[in-house]
Amino acid sequence: MTKFGRRTAEAEHSPAPSVAAKPKPAGPKPAPAAAPAAHAKKPAANAAPPRVNAVAKAQPIEIGGRTDEYFQTKTTIFNALIDTIDLSQLAQLDTESAAEEIRDIVNEIISIKNVQMSIVEQEALLQDICNDVLGYGPLEPLLARDDIADIMVNGANRVFIEVGGKIQLTNVRFRDNAQLMNICQRIVSQVGRRVDEASPICDARLPDGSRVNVIAPPLSIDGAALTIRKFKKDKLRIQDLVNFGSISPEGAKVLEVVGACRINTLISGGTGSGKTTLLNCMTGFIELDERVITCEDAAELQLQQPHVVRLETRPPNLEGQGEVTMRDLVKNCLRMRPERIIVGEVRGPEAFDLLQAMNTGHDGSMGTLHANSPREALQRIESMITMGGYNLPSKTIREMIVGSIDIIIQAARLRDGSRRITHVTEVLGTEGDTIITQDLFVYEVTGEDENGKLAGRHRSTGIARPAFWDRAKYYGMEEALAEALDAAAE
Ligand SMILES: Nc1ncnc2c1ncn2[C@@H]1O[C@H](COP(=O)(O)OP(=O)(O)OP(=O)(O)O)[C@@H](O)[C@H]1O
Ligand SMILES: [Mg+2]
Repeated sequence: MTKFGRRTAEAEHSPAPSVAAKPKPAGPKPAPAAAPAAHAKKPAANAAPPRVNAVAKAQPIEIGGRTDEYFQTKTTIFNALIDTIDLSQLAQLDTESAAEEIRDIVNEIISIKNVQMSIVEQEALLQDICNDVLGYGPLEPLLARDDIADIMVNGANRVFIEVGGKIQLTNVRFRDNAQLMNICQRIVSQVGRRVDEASPICDARLPDGSRVNVIAPPLSIDGAALTIRKFKKDKLRIQDLVNFGSISPEGAKVLEVVGACRINTLISGGTGSGKTTLLNCMTGFIELDERVITCEDAAELQLQQPHVVRLETRPPNLEGQGEVTMRDLVKNCLRMRPERIIVGEVRGPEAFDLLQAMNTGHDGSMGTLHANSPREALQRIESMITMGGYNLPSKTIREMIVGSIDIIIQAARLRDGSRRITHVTEVLGTEGDTIITQDLFVYEVTGEDENGKLAGRHRSTGIARPAFWDRAKYYGMEEALAEALDAAAE
């Protein structure tokens, strides 16, 4: 009881322009209306109305209740401290003794300069100065908070954070660009790297696993730009995504079948849309006895299975040597007898190797990539392979894509900050030159309340027998699949 009719009817209401409707390079295509039109809804979900510069207008949110006056006092005391002590000697001490030393001197400066402040303020000041000298300075209170997803520093005076999907300006600031640069340097030196005018771009990791990128002047014009994706110790699980409304319970059940039946999956989405989180959730459905190899730029995945080998790429060293690319890792994986290969982010020629792996008995391999709709994801894969220098006709590449990827899960961060799985889409085959897809679930925005919060729902497209039905049957999960799809269709 495939209800294609419903999907076609939807198509008539679908707003243009759609990603899928973009002119394609290769000739005229009798693309079936259903597949591209269904994707056309995605931009609608994300299409933001013209906005006034909301972030710039918003009041910075207070972190730790620091005022302008406080920052001035702190600068005075800090300068006096630097005049008094030798920082290089301090660096020889262990953290506790160094902090002790700093506290003594700062207390003395406060009394000599006769600075008026309450005990609480004084304690905050001591803590801040210790953080400046020994830790990550003004970033410390932000790093300590688990609800912050991203920290974005655009020069010394503008620090933004992302909380609950919303980006907000904070009152956190650095003394000057030199202090910011110092702290960037401190962060990257922990992983044996340097950031300066000669090598102004650097990726690093904090000891807690947070992912860091620094781009320094002269490339970044208004002082160093530092971006931190905070590592979430307690990774979200599929049940959390259901509780947040990111996916319906029935949709989650279908994803479970997809994960358990070793269906090759691609997770597509924009920056920070929750791709890695979703990939991590999907790995939760892998059987305990499977040999899994993960390849990432910075290890973020947390697999619970015992038989996992984790691999990480390596950037070139200062002399420009020793780089190990994602492609090297994926190629090497194939010699490691993996049952599944998980690629944190596919962004280059490794796409070819991953597809080949999916095609050659490593069923259930998974990866994420940046794209705004399932159809765009397919186009991106194709262009990654083309740009990788493989001299293959596009028909062959498309056939290869169709032969390897079974499911695309689309994640999106909507304009109200909520993260949703907007499509669960099957890749069916080719018709002429076109790849045919079919959506199993789509997310529809139905309205918006006065606070700008979007209302919406996950809608089943009514497909009762997805193409992976036989596979589900093979793994004895067809009943679970039928149940989930029936429940969703009601
Ligand atoms: N469904 C969700 N609901 C709420 N928060 C989420 C959801 N999915 C992910 N997050 C949070 O959003 C942040 C970004 O998630 P994640 O790292 O998975 O995104 P990403 O798409 O992989 O980003 P990038 O493109 O930078 O790799 C994390 O802090 C994560 O905990
Ligand atoms: Mg990611």
